[in-house]
Amino acid sequence: MFSERVDRLTSSLIRELLALTQKPDIISFAGGLPAREAMPPLDLSDPPPDLSQYGTTDGEPELRAAIAGQLADLGLRCRPEQILITTGSQQGIDLVSKLYIDPGTSVAVEAPSYLAALQSFRLFGARFEELALTASGIDPEQLRQAIQRQRPAFVYLIPTFQNPAGVCYDEATRAAVAAVLRETGTPLLEDEPYRELVYEPVDRGPLCARLDEGNTWMYMGTFSKTGIPGLRVGYLAASVDVHPYLVRLKQSTDLHTNRIGQWWCARFLNSRDYPAHLERLRTFYRERRDAMQTALTRHLGDLAEWTTPNGGLFFWVRLKAGGDTRALLVRALERKVAFMPGEAFFTSPSAAHGAFMRLNFSHATPEQLERGLAVLAEVIREQRGMTKTEATAGVVEI
Ligand SMILES: Cc1ncc(COP(=O)(O)O)c(C=O)c1O
Repeated sequence: MFSERVDRLTSSLIRELLALTQKPDIISFAGGLPAREAMPPLDLSDPPPDLSQYGTTDGEPELRAAIAGQLADLGLRCRPEQILITTGSQQGIDLVSKLYIDPGTSVAVEAPSYLAALQSFRLFGARFEELALTASGIDPEQLRQAIQRQRPAFVYLIPTFQNPAGVCYDEATRAAVAAVLRETGTPLLEDEPYRELVYEPVDRGPLCARLDEGNTWMYMGTFSKTGIPGLRVGYLAASVDVHPYLVRLKQSTDLHTNRIGQWWCARFLNSRDYPAHLERLRTFYRERRDAMQTALTRHLGDLAEWTTPNGGLFFWVRLKAGGDTRALLVRALERKVAFMPGEAFFTSPSAAHGAFMRLNFSHATPEQLERGLAVLAEVIREQRGMTKTEATAGVVEI
């Protein structure tokens, strides 16, 4: 009845379970939701009347020019014509999947990686090549070997404040990874939703900016984390060899992106207040990051280990004694605390991955952070005292 692709549609029971956690009495560390109170005001009054009409597939020229200017400041030279405005950067992931992936196509991804990208790649039939993530990024030598062995159609990386691991590749790793991509001519899809959420000075020059003229590159950004996620405006900048195909693929999906949202984003980017807004945002999230760091140390210091992220929205936490964080989620939800079990972020989950969990620090208030982590610590201690059967009762598949 349906296409064979539908058999690969993975519905995540974990996500469905977590959807129930939107209730106000739940303390949620689960999603990647920006804090409502840190968002800029949404003033949609007096849009130009023209905007009531259909727009172009590529997007509004004013917004594309503003983005091209921003990318040039980061060292990524591209013309506004190479920028495709998308319905959130999630749509960029879908378009790139459609462009490259047939059943069995190899795609190299970080381990762990962004859950929704893995779901999209999997839907089109990708075979994954996992690149282990360390505190400084992926290992360039492992990347080289993976490319030689599997010839992936593209490499998908989130080098700046990675989701879920919070890692930001250091300068040496950025240079070495870019060198491997240049030498092997492998296309890169670089996903950077968190680039502006930076709390300490760190290296974060885009990898795409280090590739040669002849390299295929695709760079995704979004207004979801700095602006208003509800507007659903993102973008996909790409080298000239792939950009026209991406535009045609978008035409077969939705032809036009929300023009009012694009108009708002262009004014937001071009506004005199934009740099000050980013500074306020960073101060706000830095405080939340620090509050979580303090509460984690107090409540989970002897139970878990983590690295404090220099940006982004997540702590990636590993239980020292191992364990099954899916089972932990069931118990935590009974106590009205939610988080993301780590296993879902790996393409081939193993028992060792069960010890990880992703904790978001942007959404809960510092008081909720404190209370929620105290509950989590109690639940971890309870789980440790249980037999395996008791501990895993009610566990759902991811
Ligand atoms: C790594 C990564 N890529 C892409 C997205 C999608 O963002 P949006 O579709 O809101 O632009 C997210 C959102 O959390 C993300 O974490």
